Amino acid sequence: MIGRNHNSSLRLAATSLLASSAVAQSNFTCKSSGTGTTYNATSKYLGCYLDPSVSILGAVKLSTIAMTPQLCTSFCGARGYSYAGINFGTQCFCDVAPNFSNAKLVDDTKCSSKCYTDPSQRCGATYVESLYQVLNPQGNASTGSASNNYIPACETSPLCSHQVCNTSLSTADRVASLVGELQLEEKILNLVDSAAGSGRLGLPPYEWWNEATHGVGSAPGVQFAHMGSNYSYATSFPSPILTAAAFDDPLVRAIDEVVGREGRAFGNGGFAGFDYWV
Ligand SMILES: *[C@@H]1O[C@H](CO)[C@@H](O)[C@H](O)[C@H]1NC(C)=O
Ligand SMILES: *[C@@H]1O[C@H](CO)[C@@H](O)[C@H](O)[C@H]1NC(C)=O
Ligand SMILES: *[C@@H]1O[C@H](CO)[C@@H](O)[C@H](O)[C@H]1NC(C)=O
Ligand SMILES: *[C@@H]1O[C@H](CO)[C@@H](O)[C@H](O)[C@H]1NC(C)=O
Ligand SMILES: *[C@@H]1O[C@H](CO)[C@@H](O)[C@H](O)[C@H]1NC(C)=O
Ligand SMILES: *[C@@H]1O[C@H](CO)[C@@H](O)[C@H](O)[C@H]1NC(C)=O
Repeated sequence: MIGRNHNSSLRLAATSLLASSAVAQSNFTCKSSGTGTTYNATSKYLGCYLDPSVSILGAVKLSTIAMTPQLCTSFCGARGYSYAGINFGTQCFCDVAPNFSNAKLVDDTKCSSKCYTDPSQRCGATYVESLYQVLNPQGNASTGSASNNYIPACETSPLCSHQVCNTSLSTADRVASLVGELQLEEKILNLVDSAAGSGRLGLPPYEWWNEATHGVGSAPGVQFAHMGSNYSYATSFPSPILTAAAFDDPLVRAIDEVVGREGRAFGNGGFAGFDYWV
């Protein structure tokens, strides 16, 4: 369990260590000020729902251990979605309308997962959704569009002006620069699969848990868009034990080239991460 209050003295120590290393401010390709950095959703709580197939909302999703109702409603509202819901304590889903066909309104106590970074608030529960209506969405997302307004973090401010985005540097130097800028609590919140990133630096949350053992599949980091949209499905090959039984190396390579290409496409579109359990 990661909480906000365990380490304030350690955090002070880390902050003073970091204070001496000034951040190099420079311009790389800052194309956007970042979605939702100034926008703050206002919302109305609609209740707690059993959501056994995670199907109330499902256009886009965000997974982070730093999830709160305010973060979720602002994430959804900034993308033009009027509904936002939190499941599993960490996962936020957005849509233009709720689909209650496989859901059931239950007592608020069933939404029993405390939000990790703000335990005074509830972040749904396992297959249970805390549902909100966003009262001031920015624009109006349409069901047919699979766009989730994904912009690479190094093209958005403020991260774009940090050396981690300087492609002239080696990967090791870029990583060292980023890690050197993180405060202790931020480091802790990035040691889990639903990594929080850093709102302060503009580093977005990142969900490491993506799966593709025999094709890009359901996982906390993978979002399949509505049927008929791009990213609504991926090729599902036979399970690995069957493929292995063919004793055919070129077949395995041919399958994995497709899996790799589709995984990359999901990542490029912002519908999955770039690392997979395979
Ligand atoms: C990027 O890194 C290179 C290599 O260290 C450096 O020469 C250059 O000034 C950096 N660019 C910016 C915009 O800071
Ligand atoms: C860097 O970005 C700032 C703010 O967008 C802009 O005013 C400035 O001209 C840019 N500097 C360079 C060297 O591109
Ligand atoms: C966003 O609004 C909520 C209340 O609706 C408020 O508690 C919070 O401080 C606001 N955050 C920002 C960044 O303005
Ligand atoms: C609502 O969800 C059900 C099953 O969960 C699905 O069969 C149905 O197509 C959905 N309706 C809409 C309008 O998406
Ligand atoms: C968004 O557009 C749809 C279809 O045009 C409409 O039914 C819906 O009410 C709109 N939502 C908002 C919040 O304006
Ligand atoms: C899928 O993406 C392609 C390329 O961006 C676009 O031309 C097409 O309209 C999209 N299809 C749907 C159903 O959104």
